Amino acid sequence: MPRTVITLAHPFDFAGWRIATRDLAGRHVPPDTITWQVAPPGSTPPAPTPDENRQPFSIPRDTMQLAADVLQSTLPDRFTLAYGLIYAHVTGTPLDAADLGRINEAAETVSAETQHLRQNLPTFMKREGEDSEWRGTLDSRTYAPESNARFITYQLSLAPWRLVLPEREICWNGTSLLHGPHGAPAPLSFGSLPPPALPLVTDLDIERITSLRAVALAARTCLICPMARQATQTVFGEGRPGARMMFVGEQPGDREDLAGRPFVGPAGQLFDRALEEAGIRREDTYVTNTVKHFKFQRRGTRRIHEKAGRDEIRACAPWLAAERRILRPQVLVMLGATAASALLGRTVTIGRERSRAIELDDGATGLVTVHPSFLLRLPDEAGRAREYARFVADLRLAASHVMPVGT
Ligand code: URA
Repeated sequence: MPRTVITLAHPFDFAGWRIATRDLAGRHVPPDTITWQVAPPGSTPPAPTPDENRQPFSIPRDTMQLAADVLQSTLPDRFTLAYGLIYAHVTGTPLDAADLGRINEAAETVSAETQHLRQNLPTFMKREGEDSEWRGTLDSRTYAPESNARFITYQLSLAPWRLVLPEREICWNGTSLLHGPHGAPAPLSFGSLPPPALPLVTDLDIERITSLRAVALAARTCLICPMARQATQTVFGEGRPGARMMFVGEQPGDREDLAGRPFVGPAGQLFDRALEEAGIRREDTYVTNTVKHFKFQRRGTRRIHEKAGRDEIRACAPWLAAERRILRPQVLVMLGATAASALLGRTVTIGRERSRAIELDDGATGLVTVHPSFLLRLPDEAGRAREYARFVADLRLAASHVMPVGT
């Protein structure tokens, strides 16, 4: 059989590989008769002309993602391996066991590296000032972070960035994405890259996730609302998986956004003190927010908290619902009007609803109280002391609705 030569636009050209694969696998062209090569940087390969005689076929989503994962590895024969996977599916021939092993291994590496990159982005991307580009170094020789370029660009609010790898660099100059040898990267289109190894949250059926760890991990890649593109990271709830009390605030603040943990800033410190006075150990509870990203306005170097709006609350509602569904707390404490309105599904005025047990539709007891940052804002000391005491009393009341262990 004559050899078929396919020239791809760049070393991670998923779009080009997919067009060629649809054509070749549709004509049952065996993998060992195809040579995959990459066009020299800066040149454009001729557009493929699919054969009229090919048979259309469909590929299960998981199989196509596995192929996409392999194409995010730096294995020299990744195009052949990924094609072999699709060819085996289309023709019904068994895939070579050694190839399958290598495919799975590559996919695992890619998934771990993707996770590592996303989790550590806030720590390894740095910039000297507001006008300079974000810069980071990644010592990875097995993985192509190009597929996470869109994720990085959103996370850094579309500001210019550069990621330096051992033999190449990827950069976003504010308008275009480029990659290639150090100092001479060539344009790259987001659309040509393989879909990232970790699904973006819109691809997930949140309702089917059954562990808090998994749901927290899925929320890390959530880009549903614009806040997610602006904030440093998703701040998910945390606490004991079997906690009987769950506290829900509004949204992470500046400190929480940087730390990636809820209620660790000034309001959190006051909350911790009140919990202690009420005889509640925070580590026995679960603490979260209605909205999982920090919403702010930039003023110079400061980031000023902005109230979460209806759209953001709606976008985050599946996460909060998942936390409730998985944790099944006995008592749900709503800290402030945003949490109370989101959870009770109506506009809540704190003064009218606070300090009384509310039966919730899942059988839990709800209790509305003030948000700790309300206490921080009170101007006079006497008022602050009075309101603080009421807050502690609310926390005690909430704790009194927790059934003793064994009941
Ligand atoms: N305010 C909140 O509502 N949540 C936090 O995590 C911090 C401040």
